[in-house]
Amino acid sequence: MLRLGVNIDHVATVRNARGGAYPDPVRAAKLAEAAGADGITAHLREDRRHIMDADIDALMEALTVPLNFEMAATDEMQQIALRHKPHAVCIVPEKREEKTTEGGLEVAREENRLAHYIAPLRDAGCRVSIFIAADRPQIEAAHRIGAQVIELHTGAYCDFHAEGKFAERDAELARLTKMASFAHGLGLEVHAGHGLTYDTVQPVASLPEIKELNIGHFLMGEALFVGMDASIKEMRRLMDLARADQQSA
Ligand code: PXP
Repeated sequence: MLRLGVNIDHVATVRNARGGAYPDPVRAAKLAEAAGADGITAHLREDRRHIMDADIDALMEALTVPLNFEMAATDEMQQIALRHKPHAVCIVPEKREEKTTEGGLEVAREENRLAHYIAPLRDAGCRVSIFIAADRPQIEAAHRIGAQVIELHTGAYCDFHAEGKFAERDAELARLTKMASFAHGLGLEVHAGHGLTYDTVQPVASLPEIKELNIGHFLMGEALFVGMDASIKEMRRLMDLARADQQSA
């Protein structure tokens, strides 16, 4: 089955716009669990612009589904991850000035450092995932450093769709398709995410090698109109439909 990880970062974005305690990302995570999320994803950024340290403490306490802890490869984040030992850590690139995680991690350029960086996380029992573009050298490097999982960045595919650049979108989807299969062939577990919406999820969900999608911003935005339960259930329905169609094809 294709797993759905729900990213609750932007509930914290809304909370932090005012300060205080509302809306509570942990409450959102519990609602997401009840709506059928297979996991919860949260990104503790260096600048704490959305999720904060206390949110991670509370999520670890409250969740019954696994937490996928997204973080940059810094010493501070490694210590936090080792303290909590979440089910999974996803290493992402981070720039202070970006609005969101713009690209994948440059694993090939930092192979040695990253291999040493993730070893203690693996030893602590976390599944280590690396967020990368659908790029063969990056996938090979992620495999060499000992990551168990890669998450393919679907942002470019989604952006091309939103801009009506359908030839470029289809080329990006072809790259995702080929690289999901390549990574799977190396023995990596393949996830995907970033920017996915009801309009863009199905072609990605139908890729048989992909085991998990991580989706946040769109689901939280849609929840403003229809509620979180309905927004997540509709995403789940579209994912399952795409998978079923692919399996019967
Ligand atoms: N996966 C990773 C690694 C991410 O960094 C993000 C954004 O934080 C997502 C998935 C979810 O992206 P979105 O919020 O655009 O659905």
